[in-house]
Amino acid sequence: MEEPSLYNSPEYEAFKQKLRKIIGLDLNSYKNQIHRRVHMLRDRWNVKTYDDYFSMIKNDDKKLREFLDYLTINVSEFFRNDKQWWKLRDQLLPELVKKRGTRRLKLWSAGCATGEEPYSLAILSAVCGLEASVPVLACDIDQGALAIAQKGTYLKRQLLNAPPDYLHKYFTTSDGGETYQINSEIKRRITWKRFNMIDDSFGTGFDVILCRNVVIYFTMETKAALYAKFYNALAPGGYFLVGSTEQIFEYKKIGFESAGPFLYTKK
Ligand SMILES: C[S@@+](CC[C@H](N)C(=O)[O-])C[C@H]1O[C@@H](n2cnc3c(N)ncnc32)[C@H](O)[C@@H]1O
Repeated sequence: MEEPSLYNSPEYEAFKQKLRKIIGLDLNSYKNQIHRRVHMLRDRWNVKTYDDYFSMIKNDDKKLREFLDYLTINVSEFFRNDKQWWKLRDQLLPELVKKRGTRRLKLWSAGCATGEEPYSLAILSAVCGLEASVPVLACDIDQGALAIAQKGTYLKRQLLNAPPDYLHKYFTTSDGGETYQINSEIKRRITWKRFNMIDDSFGTGFDVILCRNVVIYFTMETKAALYAKFYNALAPGGYFLVGSTEQIFEYKKIGFESAGPFLYTKK
Protein backbone atom coordinates (compact mmCIF):
# COMPACT_ATOMS: atom_id res chain seq x y z
CA MET A 1 0.00 0.00 0.00
CA GLU A 2 1.34 3.42 -0.95
CA GLU A 3 1.22 6.15 1.65
CA PRO A 4 2.04 9.38 -0.19
CA SER A 5 1.16 11.58 2.80
CA LEU A 6 3.80 9.81 4.86
CA TYR A 7 6.25 10.19 2.00
CA ASN A 8 5.58 13.96 1.86
CA SER A 9 5.82 14.66 5.58
CA PRO A 10 8.27 17.33 6.79
CA GLU A 11 10.01 14.74 9.00
CA TYR A 12 10.66 12.47 6.03
CA GLU A 13 11.79 15.47 3.96
CA ALA A 14 14.35 16.36 6.66
CA PHE A 15 15.51 12.72 6.76
CA LYS A 16 16.00 12.74 2.97
CA GLN A 17 17.98 15.98 3.08
CA LYS A 18 20.34 14.63 5.78
CA LEU A 19 20.65 11.35 3.94
CA ARG A 20 21.58 13.13 0.75
CA LYS A 21 24.62 14.58 2.49
CA ILE A 22 25.97 11.17 3.47
CA ILE A 23 24.97 8.99 0.49
CA GLY A 24 25.04 11.62 -2.26
CA LEU A 25 21.64 10.53 -3.52
CA ASP A 26 18.48 12.61 -3.70
CA LEU A 27 15.60 10.25 -2.92
CA ASN A 28 13.17 12.86 -4.28
CA SER A 29 14.24 11.77 -7.77
CA TYR A 30 12.75 8.33 -7.11
CA LYS A 31 9.18 7.08 -7.33
CA ASN A 32 7.04 5.86 -4.40
CA GLN A 33 8.27 2.31 -4.89
CA ILE A 34 11.63 3.37 -3.44
CA HIS A 35 10.02 5.35 -0.61
CA ARG A 36 8.01 2.26 0.22
CA ARG A 37 11.25 0.31 0.53
CA VAL A 38 12.77 3.00 2.81
CA HIS A 39 9.79 2.56 5.12
CA MET A 40 9.72 -1.21 4.90
CA LEU A 41 13.31 -1.29 6.11
CA ARG A 42 12.52 1.18 8.89
CA ASP A 43 9.77 -1.18 10.06
CA ARG A 44 12.03 -4.18 9.75
CA TRP A 45 14.71 -2.50 11.89
CA ASN A 46 11.98 -1.47 14.27
CA VAL A 47 13.08 2.16 14.59
CA LYS A 48 10.53 4.61 15.85
CA THR A 49 11.67 7.99 14.46
CA TYR A 50 13.42 9.24 11.34
CA ASP A 51 16.14 10.72 13.56
CA ASP A 52 16.88 7.29 15.03
CA TYR A 53 16.74 5.76 11.56
CA PHE A 54 19.22 8.34 10.25
CA SER A 55 21.59 7.88 13.23
CA MET A 56 21.62 4.14 12.67
CA ILE A 57 22.52 4.55 9.01
CA LYS A 58 25.09 7.27 9.69
CA ASN A 59 26.90 5.60 12.57
CA ASP A 60 27.05 2.01 11.41
CA ASP A 61 28.73 1.20 8.10
CA LYS A 62 27.05 -2.19 7.97
CA LYS A 63 23.62 -0.60 8.36
CA LEU A 64 24.47 1.96 5.66
CA ARG A 65 25.47 -0.87 3.32
CA GLU A 66 22.27 -2.77 4.13
CA PHE A 67 20.17 0.36 3.54
CA LEU A 68 21.76 1.00 0.13
CA ASP A 69 21.56 -2.64 -0.88
CA TYR A 70 17.89 -2.72 0.00
CA LEU A 71 17.14 0.44 -1.97
CA THR A 72 19.07 -0.14 -5.13
CA ILE A 73 17.38 -3.13 -6.58
CA ASN A 74 20.20 -4.64 -8.57
CA VAL A 75 18.64 -7.70 -10.10
CA SER A 76 20.19 -8.61 -13.43
CA GLU A 77 21.17 -11.52 -15.67
CA PHE A 78 23.42 -12.22 -18.62
CA PHE A 79 21.87 -11.34 -22.00
CA ARG A 80 18.67 -10.19 -20.29
CA ASN A 81 15.94 -9.87 -22.97
CA ASP A 82 18.11 -11.80 -25.35
CA LYS A 83 16.60 -10.62 -28.67
CA GLN A 84 18.07 -7.14 -28.08
CA TRP A 85 21.50 -8.70 -27.60
CA TRP A 86 21.42 -10.77 -30.76
CA LYS A 87 20.38 -7.67 -32.70
CA LEU A 88 23.36 -5.86 -31.22
CA ARG A 89 25.69 -8.70 -32.20
CA ASP A 90 24.30 -9.46 -35.66
CA GLN A 91 23.28 -6.03 -36.87
CA LEU A 92 24.14 -2.94 -34.81
CA LEU A 93 27.79 -3.57 -33.89
CA PRO A 94 28.84 -4.83 -37.38
CA GLU A 95 27.00 -1.88 -38.94
CA LEU A 96 28.74 0.60 -36.59
CA VAL A 97 32.17 -0.89 -37.38
CA LYS A 98 31.46 -0.43 -41.09
CA LYS A 99 30.05 3.06 -40.69
CA ARG A 100 32.87 4.28 -38.43
CA GLY A 101 35.62 2.47 -40.37
CA THR A 102 37.17 1.34 -37.08
CA ARG A 103 36.86 -1.42 -34.49
CA ARG A 104 37.40 1.09 -31.69
CA LEU A 105 33.82 1.59 -30.47
CA LYS A 106 32.78 3.23 -27.19
CA LEU A 107 30.18 1.16 -25.28
CA TRP A 108 28.56 2.07 -21.97
CA SER A 109 26.43 0.13 -19.51
CA ALA A 110 24.78 2.77 -17.28
CA GLY A 111 23.33 1.17 -14.13
CA CYS A 112 25.39 -2.01 -14.54
CA ALA A 113 24.39 -3.56 -11.15
CA THR A 114 26.37 -6.74 -10.44
CA GLY A 115 28.04 -6.88 -13.85
CA GLU A 116 25.90 -9.21 -15.97
CA GLU A 117 25.07 -6.46 -18.48
CA PRO A 118 28.59 -5.03 -19.07
CA TYR A 119 30.07 -8.55 -19.21
CA SER A 120 27.44 -9.47 -21.83
CA LEU A 121 28.49 -6.33 -23.72
CA ALA A 122 32.18 -7.19 -23.38
CA ILE A 123 31.53 -10.74 -24.64
CA LEU A 124 29.77 -9.38 -27.72
CA SER A 125 32.58 -6.89 -28.27
CA ALA A 126 34.99 -9.86 -28.36
CA VAL A 127 32.65 -11.87 -30.61
CA CYS A 128 32.36 -8.91 -33.03
CA GLY A 129 36.12 -8.34 -33.00
CA LEU A 130 36.06 -4.89 -31.36
CA GLU A 131 39.34 -3.59 -30.03
CA ALA A 132 39.89 -4.43 -26.37
CA SER A 133 41.95 -1.24 -25.97
CA VAL A 134 38.68 0.73 -25.71
CA PRO A 135 37.05 -0.82 -22.64
CA VAL A 136 33.32 -1.00 -22.03
CA LEU A 137 32.38 1.60 -19.41
CA ALA A 138 30.33 0.07 -16.56
CA CYS A 139 28.79 2.46 -14.03
CA ASP A 140 26.58 2.10 -11.00
CA ILE A 141 25.83 4.08 -7.87
CA ASP A 142 26.04 0.99 -5.69
CA GLN A 143 29.57 0.24 -4.51
CA GLY A 144 28.50 -3.17 -3.19
CA ALA A 145 27.12 -4.19 -6.58
CA LEU A 146 30.29 -2.99 -8.29
CA ALA A 147 32.42 -5.06 -5.91
CA ILE A 148 30.43 -8.19 -6.80
CA ALA A 149 30.69 -7.28 -10.49
CA GLN A 150 34.45 -6.99 -10.34
CA LYS A 151 34.77 -10.48 -8.89
CA GLY A 152 33.00 -11.86 -11.99
CA THR A 153 31.65 -15.02 -10.33
CA TYR A 154 28.11 -16.10 -11.21
CA LEU A 155 25.67 -18.93 -10.71
CA LYS A 156 24.35 -21.05 -13.55
CA ARG A 157 20.84 -19.58 -13.20
CA GLN A 158 22.16 -16.08 -14.03
CA LEU A 159 23.46 -17.39 -17.33
CA LEU A 160 20.43 -19.16 -18.76
CA ASN A 161 20.34 -16.92 -21.86
CA ALA A 162 24.04 -17.33 -22.64
CA PRO A 163 24.74 -19.51 -25.70
CA PRO A 164 26.62 -22.69 -24.68
CA ASP A 165 29.65 -21.81 -26.82
CA TYR A 166 30.03 -18.50 -24.95
CA LEU A 167 29.91 -20.35 -21.63
CA HIS A 168 32.60 -22.64 -22.87
CA LYS A 169 34.81 -19.93 -24.31
CA TYR A 170 34.49 -17.05 -21.84
CA PHE A 171 33.97 -18.75 -18.45
CA THR A 172 35.68 -21.28 -16.22
CA THR A 173 33.34 -23.50 -14.24
CA SER A 174 33.66 -24.96 -10.74
CA ASP A 175 31.39 -26.62 -8.12
CA GLY A 176 30.41 -29.30 -10.59
CA GLY A 177 29.26 -26.76 -13.17
CA GLU A 178 27.21 -24.59 -10.75
CA THR A 179 29.61 -21.62 -10.57
CA TYR A 180 30.93 -19.68 -13.52
CA GLN A 181 33.96 -17.38 -13.39
CA ILE A 182 34.33 -14.88 -16.21
CA ASN A 183 37.68 -15.13 -18.01
CA SER A 184 40.34 -12.45 -17.70
CA GLU A 185 40.15 -11.75 -21.44
CA ILE A 186 36.60 -10.40 -20.91
CA LYS A 187 37.38 -8.76 -17.55
CA ARG A 188 40.11 -6.71 -19.21
CA ARG A 189 37.53 -5.25 -21.56
CA ILE A 190 35.73 -3.35 -18.79
CA THR A 191 36.35 -0.17 -16.80
CA TRP A 192 34.24 0.07 -13.61
CA LYS A 193 33.13 3.36 -12.14
CA ARG A 194 30.92 4.40 -9.24
CA PHE A 195 28.63 7.05 -10.61
CA ASN A 196 25.35 8.76 -9.82
CA MET A 197 23.61 9.33 -13.13
CA ILE A 198 21.31 11.97 -11.66
CA ASP A 199 24.05 14.31 -10.46
CA ASP A 200 27.25 13.33 -12.27
CA SER A 201 28.11 14.57 -15.72
CA PHE A 202 28.23 12.14 -18.64
CA GLY A 203 31.02 11.61 -21.16
CA THR A 204 30.42 12.06 -24.87
CA GLY A 205 30.91 10.20 -28.14
CA PHE A 206 29.44 6.82 -27.12
CA ASP A 207 28.54 4.48 -29.98
CA VAL A 208 26.22 2.33 -27.85
CA ILE A 209 24.65 3.16 -24.49
CA LEU A 210 22.57 0.70 -22.48
CA CYS A 211 20.41 2.05 -19.67
CA ARG A 212 17.99 -0.75 -18.92
CA ASN A 213 15.76 -1.29 -15.93
CA VAL A 214 17.22 1.68 -14.05
CA VAL A 215 15.07 4.75 -14.74
CA ILE A 216 11.91 2.75 -13.97
CA TYR A 217 12.49 3.79 -10.35
CA PHE A 218 12.74 7.52 -11.19
CA THR A 219 10.11 10.25 -11.37
CA MET A 220 8.95 11.49 -14.80
CA GLU A 221 10.98 14.70 -14.45
CA THR A 222 14.19 12.86 -13.54
CA LYS A 223 13.64 10.42 -16.41
CA ALA A 224 13.16 13.25 -18.93
CA ALA A 225 16.32 15.02 -17.75
CA LEU A 226 18.29 11.76 -17.93
CA TYR A 227 17.14 10.88 -21.45
CA ALA A 228 18.34 14.31 -22.63
CA LYS A 229 21.72 13.65 -20.95
CA PHE A 230 21.97 10.25 -22.67
CA TYR A 231 21.11 11.86 -26.01
CA ASN A 232 23.98 14.32 -25.59
CA ALA A 233 26.37 11.52 -24.60
CA LEU A 234 25.61 9.53 -27.76
CA ALA A 235 27.68 10.02 -30.93
CA PRO A 236 25.71 10.68 -34.14
CA GLY A 237 24.68 7.34 -35.61
CA GLY A 238 24.98 5.68 -32.18
CA TYR A 239 22.35 3.57 -30.41
CA PHE A 240 20.59 3.92 -27.07
CA LEU A 241 19.00 0.75 -25.67
CA VAL A 242 16.37 0.75 -22.94
CA GLY A 243 14.75 -2.12 -21.02
CA SER A 244 11.99 -4.23 -22.49
CA THR A 245 9.28 -2.59 -20.38
CA GLU A 246 10.50 0.92 -21.11
CA GLN A 247 9.60 3.49 -23.70
CA ILE A 248 10.67 7.10 -24.26
CA PHE A 249 7.36 8.76 -25.02
CA GLU A 250 8.84 12.12 -26.02
CA TYR A 251 11.80 10.70 -27.92
CA LYS A 252 11.29 12.98 -30.96
CA LYS A 253 11.29 16.09 -28.78
CA ILE A 254 14.67 15.06 -27.34
CA GLY A 255 16.06 14.44 -30.84
CA PHE A 256 16.09 10.63 -30.88
CA GLU A 257 14.77 8.54 -33.76
CA SER A 258 13.19 5.17 -33.11
CA ALA A 259 15.28 2.31 -34.48
CA GLY A 260 13.09 -0.61 -33.39
CA PRO A 261 11.61 -1.89 -30.14
CA PHE A 262 13.40 -0.44 -27.07
CA LEU A 263 16.02 1.09 -29.37
CA TYR A 264 16.76 4.71 -30.29
CA THR A 265 19.33 6.39 -32.49
CA LYS A 266 20.70 9.87 -33.01
CA LYS A 267 21.10 11.14 -36.59
C1 LIG B 1 17.64 -3.46 -11.85
S1 LIG B 1 19.32 -2.96 -11.94
C2 LIG B 1 19.56 -2.97 -13.69
C3 LIG B 1 20.76 -3.79 -14.10
C4 LIG B 1 20.94 -3.93 -15.61
N1 LIG B 1 20.99 -2.66 -16.27
C5 LIG B 1 19.87 -4.81 -16.19
O1 LIG B 1 19.00 -4.32 -16.90
O2 LIG B 1 19.90 -6.03 -15.96
C6 LIG B 1 19.24 -1.22 -11.54
C7 LIG B 1 20.59 -0.62 -11.15
O3 LIG B 1 20.50 0.80 -11.23
C8 LIG B 1 21.36 1.33 -10.24
N2 LIG B 1 21.02 2.73 -9.95
C9 LIG B 1 19.93 3.21 -9.27
N3 LIG B 1 20.00 4.55 -9.18
C10 LIG B 1 21.15 4.93 -9.81
C11 LIG B 1 21.77 6.19 -10.03
N4 LIG B 1 21.21 7.33 -9.59
N5 LIG B 1 22.95 6.21 -10.71
C12 LIG B 1 23.52 5.06 -11.15
N6 LIG B 1 22.98 3.83 -10.96
C13 LIG B 1 21.81 3.76 -10.30
C14 LIG B 1 21.13 0.41 -9.05
O4 LIG B 1 22.19 0.49 -8.12
C15 LIG B 1 21.01 -0.95 -9.72
O5 LIG B 1 22.22 -1.62 -9.71
